[in-house]
Amino acid sequence: MVRRADVEGGDMETGGGERGPRGADAGVAAGGTEDHARRAEAAEVASPDVARHVSAVFDAGDAERARLLTLFAALPVGVVLVDARAADLPIVFANAAFSALTGYPIPAVVGRNCRFLQGPDTDPVAVATLRRALAAGTGCTVTLRNYRRDGTPFWNELTLAPLRDTDGQVVAYVGVQVDATARVEAERQRALQAAVLDATAEGIYGIDHAGRCTFINPAAAALLGYPPAAVIGRDMHALVHHHRRDGTPYPPDACPIHQAAAGGQGVRVADEVVWRRDGTAVPVEYAVQPMAGAGFAGAVVTLVDVTERARAEQERAALLTRERAARAEAEAAVTQRDHLLSLAAHDLRTPLAALIGEVQLRQRRLRRGRPLSVEEQGAFLATLHDLLQRQVAVVSEVTDAAYVQLGERLALRVASVDLGTLAGEVADMLAHAHGAGAAVIDVAAPTGVVIVGDRDRLARVLQNIIGNAVKYSPAGAPVQVRVRAEGDGAVVVVRDAGVGIPAGEIDRVFTPFYRASTARGVAGTGLGLAGAQGIIAQHGGTIALESAPGVGTTVTITLPGAEKTASAS
Ligand SMILES: Cc1cc2nc3c(=O)[nH]c(=O)nc-3n(C[C@H](O)[C@H](O)[C@H](O)COP(=O)(O)O)c2cc1C
Repeated sequence: MVRRADVEGGDMETGGGERGPRGADAGVAAGGTEDHARRAEAAEVASPDVARHVSAVFDAGDAERARLLTLFAALPVGVVLVDARAADLPIVFANAAFSALTGYPIPAVVGRNCRFLQGPDTDPVAVATLRRALAAGTGCTVTLRNYRRDGTPFWNELTLAPLRDTDGQVVAYVGVQVDATARVEAERQRALQAAVLDATAEGIYGIDHAGRCTFINPAAAALLGYPPAAVIGRDMHALVHHHRRDGTPYPPDACPIHQAAAGGQGVRVADEVVWRRDGTAVPVEYAVQPMAGAGFAGAVVTLVDVTERARAEQERAALLTRERAARAEAEAAVTQRDHLLSLAAHDLRTPLAALIGEVQLRQRRLRRGRPLSVEEQGAFLATLHDLLQRQVAVVSEVTDAAYVQLGERLALRVASVDLGTLAGEVADMLAHAHGAGAAVIDVAAPTGVVIVGDRDRLARVLQNIIGNAVKYSPAGAPVQVRVRAEGDGAVVVVRDAGVGIPAGEIDRVFTPFYRASTARGVAGTGLGLAGAQGIIAQHGGTIALESAPGVGTTVTITLPGAEKTASAS
């Protein structure tokens, strides 16, 4: 007599694999629709044959047995009852749901061991678990691959429970079969997706309609510098996409990811950044794909760190810029050479040609027996001297500028130089050379401001600077020359009220051959300031220029004391 039906716990396993003697009754027909089958099988339960089998297992009273079997018969999951005392655990009862699940009519299974449901992909480990549980007289739950009568496979979540008599002897087993195919397939799908997400080098995360993270793969978590668990459920825009590359706030409504998640379009964006946990920005290319399902809206975002690509592009751009600069430099060198050649052709040759003309004129006079008077000879020699000196000055200017340009050091011939005296001499010489119709040079240069330097070259610098002030000033305008001691060095300031230089050109006036637009119509080589800067720099000094068109120009030269000049030169 069965007093209780204990359902004992057991291990849970999922498997597939061991082949068993299945499908031995292929000739038995399956019965109609599910409802029809159910009614038919319920009738079978009551049939004298099945009742006889079952009563052999149960010592229960007829009424109790009938109630139990009716209950089993009505359950929507497969139920079998096997006789634990008979050889090889034969089925003595199966319900309609079992028949519907497996495709076998009940009469075809009664008297057989359930292993006929197994096939090639039934997991031997799961079968071994069943065997162990049966040997121990305990229950268990396993999920294993079984085959229907027509050969199609399904996942069977099988629970076994022993039924014991009053002495504790197992007299029967109840087996409950649930079709777990959908669950197992979904689990497999999820596992596959997780494996793909884990394995991919692209960062991938999902967000819901409100932008909260629903999943994130290891690559995305690593890219953003967060452990995955710290990101799930967080507002991803606020967490990693809050500011643009330039540091301005990125409103969520303007963000394509946010828009896609809220029902917008999928897009690919190549030039944005995401912000890592440590506050650094990572340049990324991302694609966002909206996702919408039953009761679900959101988006999946794939991220690629393009730091390396951006760096390579920057390097390429820098290389291009360097190449362009090198080409421009080479072109400038060619232009300078051309300038130098035309200068040599014009500025150097023309005065020399004039000189030859003067000499030839005197030679003709001599040939015609008309020698020069002593005064004429004196005047001619003075002209000659003057012209030759100017030529020497031009040649020196050109060669100094060329040296400076080539980055070569000038061979300075240093000695003590009284800058005040030198400035006075240069101013006198220029005033004499430009005559009465020029600007008026006003020198305030005390003697005794002595530095160590190359007198001739410093004279040329002053000639240049003061000469420019005169050249670019209207007649009668003041040109101030101020010399003063500063520390053990000196400062020379030359200020004019001339045409001035436009702001955009000031930086370039020290470039060889560059001539300010306001200098047009005034003779000059374009080398003076470049050479002057080189000479002053090699004295360890500086030369600075301030100017405004219509206001005038101020040039300030500083020269260091003897010690510094010596180390600079
Ligand atoms: C009540 C009961 C129900 C069972 N139901 C199934 C089943 O649905 N599918 C299956 O593959 N095995 C089922 N089995 C297990 C097999 O009948 C068998 O015990 C198992 O294959 C281990 O034994 P074996 O190594 O002799 O084959 C059931 C066993 C019992 C006792």
